[in-house]
Amino acid sequence: MSTAISPTAYNYKVVRQFAIMTVVWGILGMGLGVFIASQLVWPELNLGLEWTTFGRLRPLHTNLVIFAFGGCALFGTSYYVVQRTCQTRLISDALAAFTFWGWQAVIIGAIITLPLGYTTTKEYAELEWPLAILLAIVWVVYGIVFFGTITKRKTKHIYVGNWFYGAFIIVTAMLHIVNHASLPVSFFKSYSAYAGATDAMIQWWYGHNAVGFFLTTGFLGMMYYFVPKQAERPIYSYRLSIVHFWALITLYIWAGPHHLHYTALPDWAQSLGMAMSIILLAPSWGGMINGMMTLSGAWHKLRTDPILRFLVVSLAFYGMSTFEGPMMAIKTVNSLSHYTDWTIGHVHAGALGWVAMISIGAMYHMIPRIYGQKQMYSTSLINTHFWLATIGTVLYIASMWVNGITQGLMWRAINDDGTLTYSFVEALQASHPGFIVRAIGGAIFASGMLFMAYNVFRTVRASNPVEAEAASKIAVVGAH
Ligand code: HEM
Ligand code: HEM
Repeated sequence: MSTAISPTAYNYKVVRQFAIMTVVWGILGMGLGVFIASQLVWPELNLGLEWTTFGRLRPLHTNLVIFAFGGCALFGTSYYVVQRTCQTRLISDALAAFTFWGWQAVIIGAIITLPLGYTTTKEYAELEWPLAILLAIVWVVYGIVFFGTITKRKTKHIYVGNWFYGAFIIVTAMLHIVNHASLPVSFFKSYSAYAGATDAMIQWWYGHNAVGFFLTTGFLGMMYYFVPKQAERPIYSYRLSIVHFWALITLYIWAGPHHLHYTALPDWAQSLGMAMSIILLAPSWGGMINGMMTLSGAWHKLRTDPILRFLVVSLAFYGMSTFEGPMMAIKTVNSLSHYTDWTIGHVHAGALGWVAMISIGAMYHMIPRIYGQKQMYSTSLINTHFWLATIGTVLYIASMWVNGITQGLMWRAINDDGTLTYSFVEALQASHPGFIVRAIGGAIFASGMLFMAYNVFRTVRASNPVEAEAASKIAVVGAH
């Protein structure tokens, strides 16, 4: 296979910008996670100020980790993957730069407005209408850059990773625009266009598919590129990846009502959400198995390659959280888990174990390449990071399982005369040790990000502009 170098080059500038900001927002978002986890242990950390209370910083945490950290990882890797698998430069440098600066502006807007208390109150859709509109514009431009690049591809096929990224871009736009339909009454206040149970259903159609398409489908796009690349093996089954894609996107969109069990939502809608969630196990595991089996014949690499370990362990957590989710969607199980820390444990099994770990693995693969380096500055620092991330995740989710089941059982315990056995405060006291373990686990995970920052800094500093430029040359034929 020839690897002749064409005079044209990929746009790696925007990829580098998003990669660096992934690390920066990762540290800030997870650092804030540790802070709010500590507030639940030591309430004095609310500092007696309205701007720093748990209620205001919690949505800032979720916005920073999902949209800033996760979002930058998705933008950066999708721009890298679409260029390399289509063997062509992004369709427009100016539009790509707009998506970078526009996205950072939305995040800065969140950092300012959420602590000030401006919020729509819809979870994961808290940003008030001016920021929501900016976000919609940036997203549409993102779609133009991504799909525009695919249309001018030099390859015959559209690599499966791009299918997943593409679905994530289209569905996120649809969810965001529909859920944000609202009537502004002032510059910082709007009211939802929907009312009552309809509003709740639209919100959780959005909320669940934000998980399904933002936190899952986009990262599966990442998985389909970076796992085979790092393992130096072709994807286990291309056919399975197509079945995986269509089954996943067909099923996810129906599962939202499992967030509204035992509410005013019609019972049939709750049951439909439950059934679809259980079926969702199949495509989720199909994808996980496809990723895992890509390592066939390359398992020995796990002994020496901590980047591959990040990627494989992320798939293991993906498998775990997509087994747990369908179980929690069963109404009787949900009657125990809902409102408890079990949900928080499930969220972070997906968020830390899957989303953060796959992003970190992908960054360690990509960063040296976009800076014209053979590898990261230090492999042993990656290894240290891997263990901190794994131990941190396990401590976080194990403590939340114990807390969640304790809370659920204490809340439902009833004496013979029909009165509650435990007061809410007693359940809270029983949760305190778990809160401490979660804060420690979170701090361990977040400290790993500091090792990453140092490693990235040394890798970037070792690169000179000539090397970086040479790395972005398009190899006309050859491995992507
Ligand atoms: C060091 C790491 C982290 C720590 C210590 C942490 C801590 C926390 C805490 C204390 C809460 C509030 C829980 C409650 O209300 O009882 C929370 C919520 C949340 N976090 Fe994190 N977090 C971390 C990383 C992440 C990451 C990387 C993501 C996503 C990629 C994430 C996504 C979320 C979400 C979605 C919620 C809301 C859950 C819900 O409403 O059910 N977190 N986090
Ligand atoms: C087949 C896959 C999955 C199913 C069926 C599923 C199902 C569920 C269920 C039943 C809940 C609890 C709803 C409640 O009681 O309020 C939940 C909450 C949640 N799950 Fe999953 N889950 C899946 C995978 C994932 C993954 C991979 C992630 C993360 C990357 C994730 C993130 C979340 C979040 C953030 C929440 C909390 C939403 C909130 O209340 O704020 N889920 N999921």
